[in-house]
Amino acid sequence: MVSRIGLTRSGRRLLSDLRMAMTREDLEVRGLTDSALQALIAAGLVEEQSGLVPPQDYQDTFSSWRSQKGMLVDDPRTLAFERAIQTAVRPGDYVIDVGTGSGILSMFAARSGAGKVHALEYTAMADWAERLAAANGLTAIQVIRGDAADYQGDGLADVVMGEFAGMWLIEEWWHYAAFVKVRDRLLRPGGRVVPQAARLFLSAVDSRKLHYERGWGFFDQPVYGFDFSDVLRSGAHRPGRYVLSAEWRSLVCTQEIARFDYLRGNERDYVFETEVAFDYPAGGMFHGFIGHFDLELAPGQILSTSCGVRETHWHQSYFPMPARHVPPGQSVVARLRSFIDTDARVAKFAIRVAGVGESLDSQAEHVFALE
Ligand SMILES: C[S@@+](CC[C@H](N)C(=O)[O-])C[C@H]1O[C@@H](n2cnc3c(N)ncnc32)[C@H](O)[C@@H]1O
Repeated sequence: MVSRIGLTRSGRRLLSDLRMAMTREDLEVRGLTDSALQALIAAGLVEEQSGLVPPQDYQDTFSSWRSQKGMLVDDPRTLAFERAIQTAVRPGDYVIDVGTGSGILSMFAARSGAGKVHALEYTAMADWAERLAAANGLTAIQVIRGDAADYQGDGLADVVMGEFAGMWLIEEWWHYAAFVKVRDRLLRPGGRVVPQAARLFLSAVDSRKLHYERGWGFFDQPVYGFDFSDVLRSGAHRPGRYVLSAEWRSLVCTQEIARFDYLRGNERDYVFETEVAFDYPAGGMFHGFIGHFDLELAPGQILSTSCGVRETHWHQSYFPMPARHVPPGQSVVARLRSFIDTDARVAKFAIRVAGVGESLDSQAEHVFALE
């Protein structure tokens, strides 16, 4: 009999984790000895990387006032962060703000009595954060330009904070990775983080309007009397993720698909795989998923981006899928996986959906770039 080599359970886990670069220490904890690592390097299967590379448009996006103002004017977001910072920061604290942007969270920390705030910023927005802190007489704030992941600090900090939520949370994996580095290196035992945790949700959606305007519906029916369905069948056009304001009444069933602990977890938690059922008690149409997330900023203080509450600049994310009819009392089952496409430097989210009596393995996987 021919013997074959396959992945063990921990091998599968290691490969999944390796989608994001890891340190040698992390690899050793997962059982990959130095000699095994050397052999993999010699075989050209893994390589030394100088660190995580930021997404391509990082500098452009965050160095503009258009982007920073878009976050500042979102007052449910900004005021919720201020409340959490008031809870976390005590007089005289040393606070590190990972990704300060305009400097607003550092200003909140200084106003809450922090003795020293190190405001770390990658882009040229650092100059503005410095200028605005000075203009407001906030001498506790020192702005440091560069990749926060390289920041060595000034002793142990009482609070490490940052606003690293992408439009559907996990886009800002690179920023979260830097937060983790700073937290693990510099947060004192018993120190506090803001935010503390997050939960990621998907809701099955039944909306002919969304399906037609943003999803698979448009090319699925005659276009001014002509058959355009080949555009979808050929794969020449695949509807991508849309950021939009969803209608509450179009949501059929909401499920939590992942949760993240910002005090103990790390960016590899953003690479996950899960299977979830979405129930249709009254039956209806399935037109894809609406995604949102909740941030737990301080104990019990939740900032939700769901469509049932005050709108934030994150809105919701629509993941269009081909339409399916779901009979009453039945469900659609989804296999979901997130990963970082290191070549494209972007987080991606892949969805397979099966109805009753269908196997998930035989369904097409729809991959969405979270850009
Ligand atoms: C979502 S914005 C938040 C800005 C500000 N803290 C706020 O709440 O309005 C994220 C900011 O973090 C910065 N950033 C992301 N990753 C960083 C890193 N590794 N090092 C330094 N700054 C980073 C970005 O340039 C951007 O200005």
